Amino acid sequence: MLRNKEDILDNKKHLNDNMQISDSQDSEIPPLVSRLKAVAAQNDAYFQFPGHNKGQAVPSSLSSVIGVQPFIHDFTTFPAVDNLFAPKGPILDAQKQAAKLFGAEETWFLVGGSTCGTQASILATCSPGDTLIIQRNSHKSAFAGMVFSGAIPKYIIPEYDFDWDIACGITPSQANCVEKAMKELDSEGRKASAVFITSPTYNGICSNLKEIAVLCHSQNIPLIVDEAHGAHLRFHKSLLPLSALHQGADISIQSTHKVLGSLTQSSMLHLSGKIVDRERICNCLQTLQSTSPSYLLLASLDAARARIGEHPDTIFNKPVELAMEAKALVETIPGITVFNSSKYGTDPLRLTVGVWKLGISGFEANGILEKKYGVISQLHGTRSICFIVNLGTSRDDIMRLVSGLKHLSETYASIRVNDIHTHPLSEMNTSMILSPRDAFFASKKKVRFEESVGKVCGELVCPFPAGIPLLVPGEVITEEALSYLMERKNKGALAIGVADSTLSSMVVCT
Ligand SMILES: Cc1ncc(COP(=O)(O)O)c(C=O)c1O
Repeated sequence: MLRNKEDILDNKKHLNDNMQISDSQDSEIPPLVSRLKAVAAQNDAYFQFPGHNKGQAVPSSLSSVIGVQPFIHDFTTFPAVDNLFAPKGPILDAQKQAAKLFGAEETWFLVGGSTCGTQASILATCSPGDTLIIQRNSHKSAFAGMVFSGAIPKYIIPEYDFDWDIACGITPSQANCVEKAMKELDSEGRKASAVFITSPTYNGICSNLKEIAVLCHSQNIPLIVDEAHGAHLRFHKSLLPLSALHQGADISIQSTHKVLGSLTQSSMLHLSGKIVDRERICNCLQTLQSTSPSYLLLASLDAARARIGEHPDTIFNKPVELAMEAKALVETIPGITVFNSSKYGTDPLRLTVGVWKLGISGFEANGILEKKYGVISQLHGTRSICFIVNLGTSRDDIMRLVSGLKHLSETYASIRVNDIHTHPLSEMNTSMILSPRDAFFASKKKVRFEESVGKVCGELVCPFPAGIPLLVPGEVITEEALSYLMERKNKGALAIGVADSTLSSMVVCT
């Protein structure tokens, strides 16, 4: 571990030596990683940001845990490493290579997660008063996109699986719901400026994007796909569902960090076709992102791209095999059910396991797995838990998960009945009084929780996980939504977005 100046100088020398030795190898190193390595190795006197001065003034509590290497490579915009918002050198090269691999016409690296990608894509396609056809169960970032742009949502409700209490995709009977929304708008003399679909969902459920893309393009409407959970879909010959770009999406936003191994917060926005104005995308991304993007995040995107690019057709073979093996084992456990969908495909790397037959909730099951087995899930709901198999998952991990689930099965089999309510989205009859933007800027007050029924919601209420809004600012608060929220809270779920996390009060528009 490097702690002092001598160590740092030594390290610079070591890096310099390494650079000389491995000059020929550097052509193999992804462009942005290679530039980061070269700049880190220069023995210059720095009079610029960041303030830790290339690792020379690092808070020791952190460097004693992670070392100084991350700091030595921590740059933001300066000529030697290129500029994210006007790329000419290694960033341009890296983004071009990513576009090629992911099948896009152009790709932008994002340092604000898919959150800033969804926001930018809505801001780039909708102006104030424009209509956006959007799934009601979209991620909260899409609602922020509507506040920024002033878009008016025309909601479509996805199919709902009551057994599992999870929202599914926009399936065949539902591709028509996009068409229906378009027709309804037409009868009011309106036309959508964009259609926004989430595919895959958190649980890996994919939508019928191909049909929706054809529909959109017949009217020159861009199809934006929140593919935050699907950056890997292109990289298996047969067992992964088709990616959004493959199916005709105009924009796909992917959280590279969620599945492809880049650093948290690093994502990509891919553009295809000519319907969306690329200049507007550039402008919106600059508007929404930091002027000091982290080059560690950018280099990690480049590195993730390069690694996938080495074996694009086979890199996910092992995780898919492991996931299949896990699924086969879990299916044999009494009282445990495995989610098997879907008409348009489900990502096999999302293992959604139902526990309701054991008479326990996903929250309870998750707590036990975590405490007793050190098995950490991605998402737990009223009736299920979702586990993600990724490039780092081992057979040991799978066996631990199977043991934990066996324990649940042996301990709980039908001791009591799971009486948990399903999500009110299943019967969602939302009534929007104010647009998300008008509600955002409306004057507001706090009222007691139980007095908020029938009032216009003033805050975005997201039970977490999964950050899918239950109530959106501008909608009438229903009794069903409140009782669901209270029940989730009592089961240990967090409500994010609310001013009062104890749920004694709610913010309403006055
Ligand atoms: C469907 C969906 N879209 C967008 C996002 C935002 O992604 P990020 O965390 O990369 O900002 C998430 C995050 O979980 C998500 O689940």
